[in-house]
Amino acid sequence: MKIWFAATEATPFIKTGGLADVVGSLPLALAEEGAEVSVVLPNYSQVKQEYKDEMEFLFDFIVPVGWRQQFGAVLRLKRQGVTFYFIDNEYYFKRDGVLYGHYDDAERFSYFSRAVLEMIQHLKAEDTPDVIHCHDWQTGVLPAFLRIHYRHLPRYQDIRTVFTIHNLQYQGVFPEEVLGDVLGLGHEHFTIDGIAHNGFVNYMKAGLVHSDQITTVSPSYRDEIMDPYYGETLEPVIRHRAVDVRGILNGIDYRHFSPDIDPHLVRNYGVKDFKDGKAENKAALQEELGLPVRPEVLLFGFVSRLVDQKGIDLLAHILPELFELDAQFIILGTGEAEYEGLFHHANTVRPDKFASYIGFDPGLAQRIYAGCDGFLMPSRFEPCGLSQLISMRYGTLPIVRETGGLRDTVKPFNQFTLEGNGFSFSNYNAHEFLHAIERAIHTYHDQPVWDHLVETAMKEDFSWIRSADEYLALYHMFK
Ligand code: GLC
Repeated sequence: MKIWFAATEATPFIKTGGLADVVGSLPLALAEEGAEVSVVLPNYSQVKQEYKDEMEFLFDFIVPVGWRQQFGAVLRLKRQGVTFYFIDNEYYFKRDGVLYGHYDDAERFSYFSRAVLEMIQHLKAEDTPDVIHCHDWQTGVLPAFLRIHYRHLPRYQDIRTVFTIHNLQYQGVFPEEVLGDVLGLGHEHFTIDGIAHNGFVNYMKAGLVHSDQITTVSPSYRDEIMDPYYGETLEPVIRHRAVDVRGILNGIDYRHFSPDIDPHLVRNYGVKDFKDGKAENKAALQEELGLPVRPEVLLFGFVSRLVDQKGIDLLAHILPELFELDAQFIILGTGEAEYEGLFHHANTVRPDKFASYIGFDPGLAQRIYAGCDGFLMPSRFEPCGLSQLISMRYGTLPIVRETGGLRDTVKPFNQFTLEGNGFSFSNYNAHEFLHAIERAIHTYHDQPVWDHLVETAMKEDFSWIRSADEYLALYHMFK
């Protein structure tokens, strides 16, 4: 079976969030299981030069965008058994700064989605995909295009689509004019069963309505998004397709995230020598970020995009109480100015307890996973979450809110059975969060128990194998 991924970011080429980790690693796992996998990405100017140097030019072609005919080229690079195609167009993808949030995003990602379909006609017939697996709103119009603009062509008749929701909060909502002007669709598609939502064109909805199967990235989030609290107003659409919606948990790539081989650490370690290994990394991290080097104090890490979803307002609310605890906190991330300011403030007021690094530094992130004892994820919602999986791998116990993928992967410590791999709280409430932090600190001072939890966490298996098999079973449903 030939599986194509259509997505707008993937490690190691270009990353803004967890989507890139998934698109960069799931195809490799599928290929290892014997599938023939290709990934199509935009060739942004920000893709690192070392990869651009490796790309070979295949052909150029014309891509319709509403009434426009736009130029494009397809470049190719092969990596670890997977073919990566890059759609090249400087007008759309040579931009400074952010990948998303430009005035013409509707047009840029309509172009990209259309280009993925259009390029198929320029390949050999035997390279036609059986399944195109689309990810998030940026590729939401692809299943709609396939049904409406391409289905009558012989090449396209048997292609099936899967649409994966990584985050329902970002939907790609654009004014009605986009319909004809950019998507080339008639007014009959601007309906409640089509791609209209509350008077706007909604790219996420286009994917939900027109794909053959839908997945999201954890079983709990799958259930949550049927409910208005998590459904971001699209819950009726998702409920309507409930039989076609699956929750498949993300994995992480252990070739990249493993403390025994991670080149960013001052010392590598595994389950057998985690005590010495983590102690050394902790001391180095405290020193690197200017915190007092104290082995006996619980060091918490927080690595995240600084956005509302991540529960930062809970942290903000209990900041004065956190200052009183005998614990240290390291924050790494960028995002909304208000949150950046908050952490800068915490750092200024209590430099002995709070170290904030406002920026994006993957090496430092990995040293935080290794050097900390606890990892904070009080998310308001969390489709899957990858950081808790990475932190467990590094023997750093997650403190999470019981939602989405956090709920599916973190088993809260039970003081009677001594089972668990982290700590959790249920309601989106700052003091519930504080109490979970206090429980962690309390447990930390019972070292044999803490070590037992660390060992359990490190031995969990969140590799891609199991989930890759679930995706393969889904693709095979179409055969
Ligand atoms: C989004 C979600 C996150 C998920 C990731 C990859 O970033 O917010 O929970 O892990 O996508 O699926």
